[in-house]
Amino acid sequence: MKTKRISDAMEEALNDQMTREAHQAQIYLAYASWAEVQGFPGIAAFLYKHMHEEREHMFKIIKYINGRGGRARIEQIAAPPADPQNISECLHNTLQHEIDNSAEIDAIVNQAHEEKDWATFNFAQWFVREQIEEETLINGLIDRFALATDAEPNNANLYDLDRDVADAPQEVLIPREEEF
Ligand code: FEO
Repeated sequence: MKTKRISDAMEEALNDQMTREAHQAQIYLAYASWAEVQGFPGIAAFLYKHMHEEREHMFKIIKYINGRGGRARIEQIAAPPADPQNISECLHNTLQHEIDNSAEIDAIVNQAHEEKDWATFNFAQWFVREQIEEETLINGLIDRFALATDAEPNNANLYDLDRDVADAPQEVLIPREEEF
């Protein structure tokens, strides 16, 4: 595109976010592989599926930057974190990564507001909504994990949890979408 419709600063911020989404995908991939090796195919399946979502987020930002006359930079992705110690740590770390990512999205929304870049402000709203969904989704898994494990260590409960997570949805309804 010959005409650039985003600022240089916004182009850089979006490129950084695009690379962060690729990093998020690496984290899910690393944790999925770890869970699979630990003998939790259900949790692994969930994490593998979510890796694809993160790749889609990355792709969405690439298309937006290029479509607005900018240039998406495909750069090195940071290594994923070390393996978690257990499933609880895996889920809590995953939630923290999502919370951190939400803060980065919020910073882009702030920047778009300051620049009066309403196109990017509008684009970023999709990610704001997506982060609400993702935080709720992982928080829900942590709740289910607590239900299965808090009272008494019980392998049967863990087995049920793992089976359920295999079919856990990748999306949740947020309050303004729910019908009462
Ligand atoms: Fe694309 Fe889970 O943040």
